[in-house]
Amino acid sequence: RPRVLSGIQPTADSFQIGNYVGAIRQWVELQSTHETFYSIVDLHAITVEHDPEVLRRRTRVAAAQLLALGIDPQRSTLFVQSQVPAHTQLSWVLECLTGFGEASRMTQFKDKSAKGGVDRSSVGLFTYPILQAADILAYQANLVPVGEDQRQHLELSRNLAQRFNSRFGRTLTVPEPYILKETAKIYDLTQPTAKMSKSAPAGSLDLLADLKVSTKKIRSAVTDTGRDIVFDPEGKPGVSNLLTLLSIFDGRPVGELVDGYAGRGYGDLKKDLAEAFAAFVEPVQAAVAEYLTDPAQLDLILAKGAERARAVADATVSTVYEKVGFLA
Ligand code: TYM
Repeated sequence: RPRVLSGIQPTADSFQIGNYVGAIRQWVELQSTHETFYSIVDLHAITVEHDPEVLRRRTRVAAAQLLALGIDPQRSTLFVQSQVPAHTQLSWVLECLTGFGEASRMTQFKDKSAKGGVDRSSVGLFTYPILQAADILAYQANLVPVGEDQRQHLELSRNLAQRFNSRFGRTLTVPEPYILKETAKIYDLTQPTAKMSKSAPAGSLDLLADLKVSTKKIRSAVTDTGRDIVFDPEGKPGVSNLLTLLSIFDGRPVGELVDGYAGRGYGDLKKDLAEAFAAFVEPVQAAVAEYLTDPAQLDLILAKGAERARAVADATVSTVYEKVGFLA
């Protein structure tokens, strides 16, 4: 079976629905065709200032959400990144193969460092994408399901794998991004040309938020001029985003939905989306709450995942260390 690896940061109290639609939904599906490794990337989460107790809580909440959304620990290796030292071990070798200029071109670093300024950003935030490459390459992953915002990081991972191979001989699998066009970028509800993000809570739909809050956010989502419900991401980004989301939660293709809205207004679309979203979220929230009643059991699932992950990733690090000339 071809291998899949992907990761998510435990940087908020809840995933936002872009995480699910853009990535986790694919993670769940790929479990039936691939050997799947899914990581809660806590090492990445400390590249910006954080509170230790909050991080610990969010890591468990992230695990509970992944399980509730359908990641099956029998079929997938679900683990916490910091419990697998191979990630940082491989990362150092890859850092030594990355050009300073090459790392400087990563747009996510530019965006994230823009606010406080580069001088105040951590070096970890700068080398973040190289650690991400290590996450992927340590598992010799063939496929990496992510949203559009990760495309550049995936390109770096591919380049680093190829560079390692051409310098030291064929060792690392060159991974392919798996980015579904229709759902690659879910937009902010208040600002439908910006990506929905954990760091912009006003326009995000959060998996664990009170449904009253989510319904209100959907009802007041920014729509576009005119009144026809058509799928036109360029001309009508707000309406198109709502249609994309409704299609996911309702299960019908966008084209069929659009036909059904002939002669009806934005209010109907929002009402339907709020209902479909609630129907999806309610059982997920119940399952998350259930998992969180037993943190010891969660920790055990993660410990078992880390053990399986270590076996695979350690083997890659051994080969890599041997190839670069370290003593066995
Ligand atoms: P993170 O934690 O920001 O997001 C997790 C996943 O959700 C996707 N995503 C979206 N997709 C569509 N529309 C949106 N609005 C949206 N917002 C988020 C992201 O693309 C991502 O797939 N650097 C990564 C974590 C990471 C990783 C890895 C991913 C670390 N190591 C190795 C893959 C492989 C990140 O910050 O994702």
